[in-house]
Amino acid sequence: MRRSLSAAALGLALAAGALVVPGSPSFATAAVVDPDISATNTKAHLDQFQTIANNNGGNRYTGRTGYKASADWVKAKLDAAGFTTTLQSFSTSAGTSYNVIAEWPFGDANHVVMTGSHLDSVSAGPGINDNGSGSAGVLETALTYAASGQTPKNRLRFGFWGAEELGLLGSKYYVNNLPAAERDKIELYMNFDMIASPNPGYFIYDDNAAGNEARDELKSYFTGKNVQTEYIDVQGRSDHAAFRSLGLPTAGTFSGAEEIKTSAQATKWGGQANVAFDKCYHRSCDTNTNLDLTSLDRQIDAIGHMVWNYAQKDYGSGPPPGGSNLLANPGFESGAVNWTGTSGVVTSSTSKPARTGTWKAWLQGNGSTSTENTGQSVAIPAAATAATLSFWVRIDTAETTTSTVYDTLKVQVVDGGTTTTLATYSNLNKNTTYTEKTFNLLAYKGKTVTVKFLGAEDSSLQTSFVVDDTAVTVP
Ligand code: PHE
Ligand code: ZN
Ligand code: ZN
Ligand code: CA
Repeated sequence: MRRSLSAAALGLALAAGALVVPGSPSFATAAVVDPDISATNTKAHLDQFQTIANNNGGNRYTGRTGYKASADWVKAKLDAAGFTTTLQSFSTSAGTSYNVIAEWPFGDANHVVMTGSHLDSVSAGPGINDNGSGSAGVLETALTYAASGQTPKNRLRFGFWGAEELGLLGSKYYVNNLPAAERDKIELYMNFDMIASPNPGYFIYDDNAAGNEARDELKSYFTGKNVQTEYIDVQGRSDHAAFRSLGLPTAGTFSGAEEIKTSAQATKWGGQANVAFDKCYHRSCDTNTNLDLTSLDRQIDAIGHMVWNYAQKDYGSGPPPGGSNLLANPGFESGAVNWTGTSGVVTSSTSKPARTGTWKAWLQGNGSTSTENTGQSVAIPAAATAATLSFWVRIDTAETTTSTVYDTLKVQVVDGGTTTTLATYSNLNKNTTYTEKTFNLLAYKGKTVTVKFLGAEDSSLQTSFVVDDTAVTVP
């Protein structure tokens, strides 16, 4: 995921007047000044989570009202600050859960720096250290970045995960439903789960995958603040695991859970030896008094340091190795923008679920003789060494036949006067779980073609073809 600085980028940096101090290395860029993330504001967010729990039966557990209230409250704060937010729902054995995803809509979308925390508690209590603390810290960092008025070099995205306590379900759902091209744009995922433990330690996740220096950056940050740290292998115990399993670089900090602080650790960090880092871990007493505010203050400033610095990190120019998507508005979230065809096909109707976000292309479903289409023109570069069309489709039908094709969706490429059908799906392909389809478009390199979805229904019994998250990817 790391690319060397291109000559063009260097030229631009110089032309833009990057600080070049005589006698210093000629490509020095202005150092990023660390923010001071407000501990007062972060504590106020924690008090808000406590209030939400108090008003909702004492917890913020998946499937209970206290979780949805937490998600709605976090989303509203981010919306008000100008983030582009998504409430992503998914089902669990305990009921519907939600991820809140917030993106700062500036910076290079090909290089995404993501920071996250789980927002759910266990059912036993309000979950203020676990993990109101990480959520409040990540939220306050995001709000402070927005208020700083900066434009980052990279794209900043924040995730507040649901159902971590049921087995990391929210973060797994998020990564499993990210199109491959989007996964490749994530340069770093940073996780914060329990950062204000009442008897705190200062642990840094031991992810030392090749090319991932974020772990060392955290260590030197804390060292610079005279806080000693220990690397810890927490693999599998929090939401970074979902990102790690995709091979993405991850980092994170942790102030300790049910484990006992040793006397050596008490000497190093203060607090009580032979007592758990968090004696209220997963208990009803994990309230807004179950917090070490010094730990909270240090940890949120570390989050700020990481976000501010990785926002400006040079990941090189050009698309990531997984390729860039040549389609505009590929997930239909801007409505029909960039798509042409039958009006009303691109819709946010709640009658059919989007795969991601709210919008999708819903073709047919009329139950009467009709055709509908939507398509987009795309120029495949002459120099392309690969070109792939991909999209996700969901098909439901009122037809009951297991042998006769009545209603169809054709995937076509229109090249001047020639139309080629790449695939035809029908009422026989009923599948209400979105599935991804891919096609090779390399035959069209050097041409501008239209990628088109064309639906047709016969006289009765509806079939709905719902398409979302399209891509024409070139390396
Ligand atoms: N994820 C654990 C929980 O929520 C806590 C934890 C965080 C454990 C980080 C280890 C490392 O219960
Ligand atoms: Zn927990
Ligand atoms: Zn946790
Ligand atoms: Ca969508």
